[in-house]
Amino acid sequence: MIDKEFDIIIFGATSFVGQIMTRHIKEKFNNSSLNWAVAGRSKEKLKKLSKDIGLYEIKTIIADANDESALKALCARTKIVVSTVGPYALYGSTLVKICAETGTDYCDLTGEPQWIKKMQETYRKTAIDSGARIVHCCGFDSIPSDLGVHFLQNHALKTMSENCNRINMRVVKMKGGASGGTIASAINMIKEATKDTKLRKELKNPYSLCPPNHGFKSRQNSVKVSYDKEHKSWITPFIMAAINSRVVHRSNSLKANSYGLNFIYEEAVLTGRGNSGKWKARFTAIGINVFMVFLSIAIIRWLLENYILPKPGQGPSEYDQINGEYDLIFSGKTPSGQEIKCRVTGDRDPGYGSTAKMLTQAALCLAKDIPNDIKGGFWTPSTIMGDKLIKRLVKHAGLRFEIIKT
Ligand SMILES: NC(=O)c1ccc[n+]([C@@H]2O[C@H](COP(=O)([O-])OP(=O)(O)OC[C@H]3O[C@@H](n4cnc5c(N)ncnc54)[C@H](OP(=O)(O)O)[C@@H]3O)[C@@H](O)[C@H]2O)c1
Repeated sequence: MIDKEFDIIIFGATSFVGQIMTRHIKEKFNNSSLNWAVAGRSKEKLKKLSKDIGLYEIKTIIADANDESALKALCARTKIVVSTVGPYALYGSTLVKICAETGTDYCDLTGEPQWIKKMQETYRKTAIDSGARIVHCCGFDSIPSDLGVHFLQNHALKTMSENCNRINMRVVKMKGGASGGTIASAINMIKEATKDTKLRKELKNPYSLCPPNHGFKSRQNSVKVSYDKEHKSWITPFIMAAINSRVVHRSNSLKANSYGLNFIYEEAVLTGRGNSGKWKARFTAIGINVFMVFLSIAIIRWLLENYILPKPGQGPSEYDQINGEYDLIFSGKTPSGQEIKCRVTGDRDPGYGSTAKMLTQAALCLAKDIPNDIKGGFWTPSTIMGDKLIKRLVKHAGLRFEIIKT
């Protein structure tokens, strides 16, 4: 492999999450061996970022997401491009194309399944031929889910000699907020879906990110408000389950179906016991549905976008990021009825404080730990980085993975 000037370029360093990530890398790697640069479309914003964070020795690169030649020049200088330029379905495709063509490794934070599928279908062969390793979903969606399942399945195999054919993930605690960028991505997906029946059908397919010949047939039930006997708590749908479960199923298919052809995966939020738990579950489920319906009505969407919801560039305060946290429990059952559980926790708010650290470690893992002979193509975090990334997340990103008593 040709030596490149940089290990990592952060494209979109001026985004809400890109700024947190840039600050984090600067604090961790000031004066160290990491060669990195920041990139974005606005010279002024990059200048301000450099001044605010004190990036005096860090190179800045100007590139627009639609400018092929600028992106080609950017890719020529780096081993890996990390992109936080979203909504990815609007601004991400040219960069994936150039990375796939030039053999440049890439990771991002997208949670947009319709776009990921389009990228896989369009650039899979190009990435395999060039050797570019493309890894989507390297934030809260979907690293804790994908690696939580990977961690539990490895322990199941080691201690019980079989994989789980069913895993339920429950959100025990999750403290944090949403940014304008995340809201913009959700709004764009709903806009696309309201216009396109084929896409609406595709968004209901739990295996939509698996290769066409995946062979999975199990019906993946969507979570309804109900009582979860195992956790002695009411449960309600988890908004991130749509992307997380698709990434987990893709990992299963890329691991030669090692979780089984009938593997069932489900995510839900615990809302507590008794009547208060039941009503909290019902209100949350109704709230999500009403919000989705509102977002599909153009005039209400416009009002929400312009007057109520956070705008691109805005997000949770530093206080909320520092005081945020999450706690997830994965319960697995094997075909012979044995049970195993693990817990994944993270400090900081899931979507930004923790996501920025996860994305950083995913990029470093790809740059430093994954051998060059691992082939190109569209990977998931667990299939290309697996235990190596878990090790990094535990050591450097405030996550914990532990087997707990059943
Ligand atoms: N997976 C997860 O858990 C997770 C968590 C958080 C966020 N996300 C996703 O990450 C993305 C970023 O979120 P955010 O809140 O940080 O977004 P944001 O603050 O709205 O930032 C969007 C970025 O895109 C850049 N951009 C827009 N159009 C561009 C173009 N034509 N050329 C170059 N750059 C362009 C903007 O540049 P300027 O700065 O110059 O305006 C900005 O830096 C979103 O897609 C969001 O959904 C995912």
